[in-house]
Amino acid sequence: MRQGQITIGLFDSGVGGLSVLRQLESHFATRGEAQSYRFLYLGDTARLPYGNRSSQEIKTFVEEIVAWLSNKGADQIVMACNTSAALAYSTACAQSKVPVYDLIKPTAEHLTRALQGKQKIGVLATNSTVKSQAFSKAIKEFSNDCEVVEIGCPELVGIVESGQINSEETKKTLSKYASQLEKAGVDSVVLGCTHYPFLAGPLSALLPSHVQLVDPAALMVRSLSKNKTSTAALNETARDVEIKKEIYVTGPLADFATSAEICLGQAPGTIYGITIQDLQAARTEALQANLPVADISGALS
Ligand code: DGL
Repeated sequence: MRQGQITIGLFDSGVGGLSVLRQLESHFATRGEAQSYRFLYLGDTARLPYGNRSSQEIKTFVEEIVAWLSNKGADQIVMACNTSAALAYSTACAQSKVPVYDLIKPTAEHLTRALQGKQKIGVLATNSTVKSQAFSKAIKEFSNDCEVVEIGCPELVGIVESGQINSEETKKTLSKYASQLEKAGVDSVVLGCTHYPFLAGPLSALLPSHVQLVDPAALMVRSLSKNKTSTAALNETARDVEIKKEIYVTGPLADFATSAEICLGQAPGTIYGITIQDLQAARTEALQANLPVADISGALS
């Protein structure tokens, strides 16, 4: 029998967070728990890219989005945007009344646990994430044996959003980063922006075969994998897993639908439009609700 519904809110600047949503979907679909999951996805495409923005801007966006997802009924929030997590994870936690998850800490934890001895880890991410050194700092918390090389890749988000994943031009851009990684002698490469897993195929073809690509979302769902059941039990309960998706975007719906379909290899689900004003109003409302209540006791006496 199916239990109640869990609503999971996720957000990113664009289609990148769909690489996280697909990992969560397949994780819950195969975990073997009779449950209904409702995914609420917000792609803030009107303000994309986030990767060169200041930490103050990102903090404000994150406050708006967390407030909006909470109003829509999110029971949990996943920051499917590493730039937002790198610059505003604590802002999100302070704003949210429900648990907030990011990908950076689980990546650092699982990766360092899996790696043996001295290792050189490459991290490809947006300029703002690299500047924050969020991945290096998180990895160092778990291991002093790892050397981390972070490289900002400002062009890659635009490439994914425009659906040019397999073009010759893209290959040229990726070759530049592949040779930097090779020169640095890395053993593994963290795809530290959620758009980049959609470029994993062409990128891995340009790297030496021993270099392992790491999708942080795949590591994050591993932290949720404590309850794997047997295949028989999975088949038994799979019928009772229900997954619903609602996708909201602040920019043009058709553009998002096209890039999402190229990235996922299938239509992403129903897409609705919302405005930046909707997000801003949610933040204003949340801030007003959190204002200390004025002491009016004197006025009544
Ligand atoms: N996908 C996001 C990230 O993980 C943001 C990319 C951008 O908008 O620059 O960093």
